[in-house]
Amino acid sequence: MKKTKVMSTFGLNAPAFSKEIADKDLWLPPSKRELVDEIVEAVSERQSVLLTGEPGTGKTCVLRAVRHRLPGEGFRLTYCHNATLGRRDFYRQLCLALGLTPSATAAAVFYAVSTHVADLAKDRVYPAFLLDEAHLLHQDTLDHLHILLNYEWDSKALLSLILVGLPELRDRLDLRRNRSLCSRIHRRISIDALTPDDTAAYVEMRLERAGCGRQLFTADALALLHEHTFGAMRERVPGGSSSKSATRGVKAEVGEVQTALDLEIVVDYGVSIADVAKDVRENVIAAVERMTGLEVVEVNIAVSDVKLPDEEEDEPETRLQ
Ligand SMILES: Nc1ncnc2c1ncn2[C@@H]1O[C@H](COP(=O)(O)OP(=O)(O)OP(=O)(O)O)[C@@H](O)[C@H]1O
Ligand SMILES: [Mg+2]
Repeated sequence: MKKTKVMSTFGLNAPAFSKEIADKDLWLPPSKRELVDEIVEAVSERQSVLLTGEPGTGKTCVLRAVRHRLPGEGFRLTYCHNATLGRRDFYRQLCLALGLTPSATAAAVFYAVSTHVADLAKDRVYPAFLLDEAHLLHQDTLDHLHILLNYEWDSKALLSLILVGLPELRDRLDLRRNRSLCSRIHRRISIDALTPDDTAAYVEMRLERAGCGRQLFTADALALLHEHTFGAMRERVPGGSSSKSATRGVKAEVGEVQTALDLEIVVDYGVSIADVAKDVRENVIAAVERMTGLEVVEVNIAVSDVKLPDEEEDEPETRLQ
């Protein structure tokens, strides 16, 4: 792997916060291990589960840890992440994931999937369908899902449904219309945002796995990082926040290891624009690289306004300092 500037500066042998982390290397503190245990137990008992949490809190990584933990024999995990399909295409996707040839009509694809599940059960193999981003499921797909759990006159549990999504999925399932499915969900699990201690432990673990042998962040920097990420683990850089005032004038293009920033600044009349731009560039690069581990390859600065001495300070919070 080609070493980036950040990697060589901080003695890393891999990008520290990349999403390319092997299942076996996932960070599993006791709180996350409990979630994994509970899902593994549910799948072993062919129960269905609802797992919800805010974006970036590690839901999909928990599924990956479940995949890693489940024994290869006796289970067939099928991961579906395109939840935006209508009912027929949803079952076609399931067919393809199961290695079946999808037929044309909704009834035929559904029949193919359920017959396949029943056949697997004869060999004591039980599928778990992991439906990620399930808050996006079409209502007509959701209406039908409980039927997928119905075998031998609804007397046999042959598979687990693991519905994973944002917290609003819980509210959707609580709607009267979805009560048939809701009543078949055995466990409801929510994944909490990280605590400040978790954030510190997570950062330490990722840096250690990337080969960093020293303490890079002070306690204050970690506290700040926690505050800015709201306890989520996905990398954030300016431009990714939902706060309008903090991000106005900042755009970011974020890659796996590099980022490019476009900044708009307002300068006071009479100052040297070249000097201000140079200072802003240096400070922003240092701060973003320190906070995110991404290499800032480009900072484009545009002066959007010049503040005259007698001008009113109308929106001071949007200014870059
Ligand atoms: N257990 C973990 N170990 C290591 N890294 C993790 C772990 N959980 C999350 N991460 C990091 O945080 C990122 C986001 O996690 P993940 O994709 O699991 O979140 P999510 O809750 O599924 O988000 P979304 O709702 O947006 O799909 C991962 O790409 C990974 O870099
Ligand atoms: Mg996810």
